[in-house]
Amino acid sequence: MIHVENLVKRYGSNAAVDGVSFDVAAGEVVGLLGPNGAGKSTTMRILTGAMPPTDGIAEVAGHDVVEAPLDVKSRVGYLPEVPPLYPEMKVRSFLKFVAELKGVPRRDRKARVESALSRCWLEERADQPIEQLSKGYKQRVGLAQAILHDPELLILDEPTSGLDPRQIIEVRQLIRDLAGDHTVVLSSHILSEISASVQRVVVINEGKVVAADSVDELSRRFGGGDQVTVQVRGDADALRRMLPSLPGVADARIVEDVESDVWRCDLSAAPDTDVRPRVAAAVVNAGFELIGMTRREMGLEEIFLRLTDEVNQDADAEDQAA
Ligand SMILES: Nc1ncnc2c1ncn2[C@@H]1O[C@H](COP(=O)(O)OP(=O)(O)OP(=O)(O)O)[C@@H](O)[C@H]1O
Ligand SMILES: [Mg+2]
Repeated sequence: MIHVENLVKRYGSNAAVDGVSFDVAAGEVVGLLGPNGAGKSTTMRILTGAMPPTDGIAEVAGHDVVEAPLDVKSRVGYLPEVPPLYPEMKVRSFLKFVAELKGVPRRDRKARVESALSRCWLEERADQPIEQLSKGYKQRVGLAQAILHDPELLILDEPTSGLDPRQIIEVRQLIRDLAGDHTVVLSSHILSEISASVQRVVVINEGKVVAADSVDELSRRFGGGDQVTVQVRGDADALRRMLPSLPGVADARIVEDVESDVWRCDLSAAPDTDVRPRVAAAVVNAGFELIGMTRREMGLEEIFLRLTDEVNQDADAEDQAA
């Protein structure tokens, strides 16, 4: 349904999207994941046919976004970061207006509007002005306008951002319902927020794809071992030298000064290794005071941070080398 190849979007000398490639099959639900400024919205905007790329290919259902933007637009329902709503209009009138704009044939308009209202649980609010709605309901109106012309592909830019937990669950449910008969691409910077909704994630950082896989596979590949947090009293520099050199410790960060002279150290263990006894012994033998130690499995957010951090560190190293 989507084919993106070496996509580039430059603003002046800054590449917002810098050689992105991925494919999305019909019926798939895929998450575009990345930190602020990664290039998610830019990629999505290009895929809607609203903005041409500087270079590379973007196709929707075999139609090139530059050569056939109208074919693309008719197939895409788009929820932008800030949905274009007319605050003074009532929900139903707004949707009728959008249906007209999108070229829904007159005879189908009423049915399409009512169907969008019902799918987005908006019937009770249909005659209320949009400005009186809560953020969550406004987001539903945004989703309703996206599905109005019954598009094959939904591109949803941060559909759950700024919503309270209950609304997040509702919008997630709505996306699951829509996923049944649509291809869906949605963006987020919170992996755990979309991991339940998507079959696959494409992780973008600084305009580049850094990973593309199922959440399970990413967890397996990048999650690896446990995260162990140790609290130690003593000299931070000595800790910094000692901890990473311990067998079974894949990574060590001295995170913060918890209290005077006490350091929190976040360790990543190699897969299938319990490093706690070794760390405890080493810390004590080196004359530090061991204040506390906890272990947990690596969470989705850490996997994500790792993926995007590794790239940033590589880039920093390149910058320094240059
Ligand atoms: N119209 C524009 N003019 C100049 N630079 C832009 C423009 N739009 C986006 N950018 C830049 O392109 C980069 C990518 O922006 P984009 O909005 O695609 O990121 P994003 O991944 O959606 O981030 P967020 O999570 O904050 O929404 C950023 O550095 C941004 O400042
Ligand atoms: Mg964005």
